Amino acid sequence: MAILITGSAGFIGSAFVHSWFLHSEEPAVTLDLLTYAGNPDNFAGLRSAAGHTFVHGDIADRSLMQRLLAEFQPRAIVHLAAETHVDRSIRTADAFFQTNVIGTTRLLDEVTAYWRTLSEERQRAFRFLHVSTDEVFGALTAHDPPFNESSPYRPSSPYAASKAAADHAVSAWHTTHGLPVLTTHCSNNYGPRQFPEKLIPLCIARATSGEPIPVYGNGAQIRDWLHVEDHCAALRLVLERGAVGRRYNIGGYGETANIDMVRMLCEILDRKHPRQNGEPHHKLIRFVTDRPGHDWRYAIDPSRIRDELGWAPNVSLTQGLADTVDWYITNAQWLERVRTGEYRSWVRTHYGQ
Ligand code: NAD
Ligand code: DAU
Repeated sequence: MAILITGSAGFIGSAFVHSWFLHSEEPAVTLDLLTYAGNPDNFAGLRSAAGHTFVHGDIADRSLMQRLLAEFQPRAIVHLAAETHVDRSIRTADAFFQTNVIGTTRLLDEVTAYWRTLSEERQRAFRFLHVSTDEVFGALTAHDPPFNESSPYRPSSPYAASKAAADHAVSAWHTTHGLPVLTTHCSNNYGPRQFPEKLIPLCIARATSGEPIPVYGNGAQIRDWLHVEDHCAALRLVLERGAVGRRYNIGGYGETANIDMVRMLCEILDRKHPRQNGEPHHKLIRFVTDRPGHDWRYAIDPSRIRDELGWAPNVSLTQGLADTVDWYITNAQWLERVRTGEYRSWVRTHYGQ
């Protein structure tokens, strides 16, 4: 028995690989294209390196996928590979549609062909877990109830549109071909090894090097934050006990306005990493031009996964943020290594000097 994990060298993918080997002896073959967001350093300290086979490759490469499926005979696929950064998708959407849509549909094709070769018993037990996002549901106003699994699709950004298209494909392969799929929609994750283009690691990276911290618009937009370990626990549960064809929303009851999040991080950094000039970190905050089409608020109602599978988040936002700041301070070298050529040119292009 083995599972196949795509996007394994990214933020959530690598957290899932770590959590897999903390909780299971089952081997995992993991695939990643190692785009700017994928980092083999993220496997450092893996509990059972022996059970882990890493393959560098593209989910859209049909012959590679055929080979991997035939060789490793996985009982499940956990599909996390994607282009994931909203701001990049606004500048150039090609890679988003290539990987998130074409890549996902090719993967579905190859997995379906493989699944058909399995015995009836193994076909029944097989699972394709598609990791989607709450962004496919678009924006909420301050008074709307949180997203549930029946919320209509209203993607705002090219990234969200590409994930929505992938979700529809996954659902169509289930209806048309009978592939046993599961889909999850999670809110914003934070934690160790997140690429510093996303708000929390960006804020920590810039604050610890004394650089301005960019907050879009007036910073009033709201996100529902969940620690990545809680997300991984939810994914393991859905994989083992989720009902085939069902969707599960995953969220942390962690609604926070961006400006409050940035101020919280600044306060934690004031205690753990005081500035040499003695000034508080919040003095580095700069309000910059807003993101076009910026979704106002995300919030998740996770009652289904709570009631049906018994999942609840474990890590409080206060504890999770303090631990996350500790991780980035302790792993300053990790941060330095990822803030190299490509990253610097993105920051220059996106934020200017
Ligand atoms: P990430 O950008 O950190 O990692 C994505 C990984 O996919 C990278 O390692 C990249 O190299 C790899 N990849 C990209 N294209 C590939 C391809 N064609 N073939 C193989 N690998 C490829 O993203 P993340 O934050 O870890 O997100 C993982 C998944 O979770 C995504 O599907 C994302 O939509 C979803 N998600 C993320 C969040 C969040 O807050 N980060 C929330 C909900 C859902
Ligand atoms: O909700 C789940 C989604 O969360 C995932 O599907 C995406 O892959 C992931 O990137 C994330 O999307 P967001 O756009 O919400 O995350 P990001 O970290 O880019 O931004 C979080 C909020 O912070 C958002 O309201 C925009 C704001 N922001 C972001 C950056 C990079 C700023 O104010 N300044 C910044 O420089």
